[in-house]
Amino acid sequence: MTRHFLKDDDISPAEQAEILRIALELKAAPYSRRPFEGPKTVALIFDKTSTRTRVSFAVGVADLGGVPLIIDSQSSQMGGKESVADTARVLERQVAAIVWRTYAHAGLEEMAENSKVPVINSLSDDYHPCQLLADLLTIKEHKSNLAGLKIAYIGDAANNMANSYLIACAMAGMHIALAAPAGYLPDSHIVSRAEAIALQTGGSVQVVSDPRAAIRDADVVTTDTWISMGQEADKEQRIRDFSGYTIDAALMEQAKKDAIFLHCLPAYRGYEVAAEVIDGPQSVIWDEAENRLHAQKALMVWLAQNAH
Ligand code: CP
Ligand code: NVA
Repeated sequence: MTRHFLKDDDISPAEQAEILRIALELKAAPYSRRPFEGPKTVALIFDKTSTRTRVSFAVGVADLGGVPLIIDSQSSQMGGKESVADTARVLERQVAAIVWRTYAHAGLEEMAENSKVPVINSLSDDYHPCQLLADLLTIKEHKSNLAGLKIAYIGDAANNMANSYLIACAMAGMHIALAAPAGYLPDSHIVSRAEAIALQTGGSVQVVSDPRAAIRDADVVTTDTWISMGQEADKEQRIRDFSGYTIDAALMEQAKKDAIFLHCLPAYRGYEVAAEVIDGPQSVIWDEAENRLHAQKALMVWLAQNAH
């Protein structure tokens, strides 16, 4: 069975650790693995805008010996004109993997069901699992290990990043605390799934409304935009609803002295995070952005190894 990576727990905790190990190896020796030698082509499909994901996957595929084919879905037949299933049947005969950034997560599931080559979610409305591999790699680099660390996520806890943090951090045995205003809390089925995983790994899950309670004694502090792609029409309402949830220096004081700050980017200074924090000494956002490359290369190496 072909392995796909549509959500964080499509791999086991042991497999997550193995991918992070390969990522560190590839960061030290970028051209040491060549699964796409040929060169084989990897399709990178974008329904939404992107800077980091587009660059890191294109560079990563090239580093692994392959050719990245960037497809802007607006200029393809996909969508209104041709079904996802038919697109998958065309692509699987010619490419080594399909990486897709889209809206509804169900589209990725349909693509995976109809593809013999691995399908990778490079962001859907529900999950951003590639970002979490990069985030865990960054935390590991700065804190040595993951299990037992406390991570606090303040802001929109109902979005793709919050869902992926819940699942991926629980898999890594971390203690995750989320703080969000009413109406922006994670779905109960995601929280239950994360709790069930945490029970196995020694991690824990806490969902609160008070940002100070969530951030207290955290080793890692993180957030994401209050307005995700596709939510632009609700911008003014959301800015009002998230008032009091900005991560500023005063809030950061509640975390451990040596806490690091992460943000998947793009960031909106003055909204989810103050400039003094994201541009301050605790911020490791540029390491995090670079680690997209190493983590995704590791994922592709691992998927190529595990393709049956
Ligand atoms: N973090 C992230 O996925 O960035 P892009 O939207 O620029 O790809
Ligand atoms: N939650 C954000 C993440 C961007 C990388 C969005 O979906 O727009």
